[in-house]
Amino acid sequence: MEEKYLILSIESSCDETSLALFENNELIAHKISSSASAQAFHGGVVPELASRYHEHNINRLFVDILNETKIDPLTITHVAYTAMPGLPGCLHVGKVFAKQLASLINAELVPINHLHAHVFSASIDQELVFPFLGLVVSGGESCLYLVSDYDQIKILNQTQDDAIGECYDKVARILGWNYPGGPIIDKNYQEDLATLEFIKSQPAAKNFSFSGLKTAVINYVHNSKQKKLDFDPIVIASSFQKFAINEVIKKVKYYLDLYQLKRLAIGGGVSANSLLRKKIRDLNVISYIPQMIYTGDNAAMIGAYAYALIKNHKKSILIK
Ligand code: KG4
Repeated sequence: MEEKYLILSIESSCDETSLALFENNELIAHKISSSASAQAFHGGVVPELASRYHEHNINRLFVDILNETKIDPLTITHVAYTAMPGLPGCLHVGKVFAKQLASLINAELVPINHLHAHVFSASIDQELVFPFLGLVVSGGESCLYLVSDYDQIKILNQTQDDAIGECYDKVARILGWNYPGGPIIDKNYQEDLATLEFIKSQPAAKNFSFSGLKTAVINYVHNSKQKKLDFDPIVIASSFQKFAINEVIKKVKYYLDLYQLKRLAIGGGVSANSLLRKKIRDLNVISYIPQMIYTGDNAAMIGAYAYALIKNHKKSILIK
């Protein structure tokens, strides 16, 4: 008979505080509380503010989970938490909570690499078959991985400067749109209006780089304003999105081809993007695409990945 694990998972790497409870691979409770609307006022994430939100929310979410599921906390066998990467103060809040809880209830502590959990985010409700290419596109990272097992995750390409999500947020900001900018740009996207070319495409094997694109868009808007020229935010946003997503797809195709892979998993906040999801579905591969709720930072992906590691007697690799 399969051993029964009750796993509490915690995610606190940036501006979402999230807790989930898994009974083996079954998600039985999931809570997310975001400080994004408070951060919007500042036009991006203020680390200190995010840490304070985590401190304020983490106990409350745990109590909510206990009330909702009526479980006895002493029956929790594992406490999994995001150990890295993320904002240091935010990670610290999650880690201290996890450590204290685990020692109080005598549960095993499971530190998790949050980027690898993003790679496996579709596994919350789908079975993933190895090997596959993993794409993580978020506010802090743009990475491609060769994934051969839960603990065999080789980085192929990574963020050289600004991550794609960061670039979405800054482009939205210069257009006068609120943080987070990704969903707004996505919603306003019109392919027939994507007519501007800001920079040239980069070779597929080069590390992800979006700072040149970000600067080119910001300069375009500043110059237009200085010269008192009319500009259409939808044309700018659509041209930016088309180019940024095409750069990602170009790299995905390159590595699928290079490693002769037939499967692709995606995760991270930008994996909610409708153009990216469409282009990935159009590729001639099996695609593991998470439900929208599991694209951004969430504890369900931490718990699902933790369960797979525990069941297979493996540990999360705590390097990028
Ligand atoms: O993974 P995530 O929740 O956390 C961080 O890494 O911070 O990703 C957040 C990022 C933000 O930059 C946000 O603008 C972007 O994901 N994002 C999107 C979309 N939804 C969220 N970017 C493009 N299209 C979207 N639909």
